[in-house]
Amino acid sequence: MRKKIIAGNWKMNKTPSEAVELAKMLKEYVDTDKADVVFCVPAIDIIPVGEVIKGSNIALGAENMYFEESGAYTGEISPAMLTDAGVKYVILGHSERRQYFAETDETVNKKVKKALEHGLTPIMCCGETLEQREQGITIDFVRTQIKRGLYGISAEDVVKVVIAYEPIWAIGTGKTATSDEAEEVCGAIRAVIGEVWGQDAAEKIRIQYGGSVNAKNAAELFAMKDIDGGLVGGASLKEEFKDIVNY
Ligand code: 13P
Repeated sequence: MRKKIIAGNWKMNKTPSEAVELAKMLKEYVDTDKADVVFCVPAIDIIPVGEVIKGSNIALGAENMYFEESGAYTGEISPAMLTDAGVKYVILGHSERRQYFAETDETVNKKVKKALEHGLTPIMCCGETLEQREQGITIDFVRTQIKRGLYGISAEDVVKVVIAYEPIWAIGTGKTATSDEAEEVCGAIRAVIGEVWGQDAAEKIRIQYGGSVNAKNAAELFAMKDIDGGLVGGASLKEEFKDIVNY
């Protein structure tokens, strides 16, 4: 039985003082051991939010990381910086980073490997554009993203990765994939994991759905066979997040 994982992706929202307020408010409601709950916060908010959630069941996550150990990479954050600050999870390859910051399957692959080396749990994102969906190439495209993003990772390590299926047309649009649409792709992701890394890995790996998850649709989405929780954007910044976690 896979444990559900529900992560908030705060994106570029909340100054450090605002982040402390939000984390304090949410902590009251979402500190549970029934599911893994993660706050993925902007880099500058990691330390103060970590202080707020210390001693709770809520885990700390980052939204990005660089694939080198250290050095002349102005503006980047290293894996050791994250682990030293108490971070357990890191979102990698979010579509916004692919779209605006030139992230590719190759850089995502390097980052996933580096995160695993440091004991961080990568939340690796994938998902198609509306155009790709209309062209009928969603499954092909997502399968390729999975194979390339996880290329060269052993079956033993691949199960430590969390995959987030986020159709780009559903992100921040209020247009959620139906539970059947989401399940179809999450099932296909599990199938490709099985083909490449074996059936045992396919059964163990956790796959989230993301894209306009809210208090109303969470229960139905998370009840699907291959959906093991959600990666939540807008609704993770509000009290509503408690209803998603306690779906
Ligand atoms: P929304 O929940 O705001 O659609 O964002 C989804 C997302 O991108 C989470 O990573």
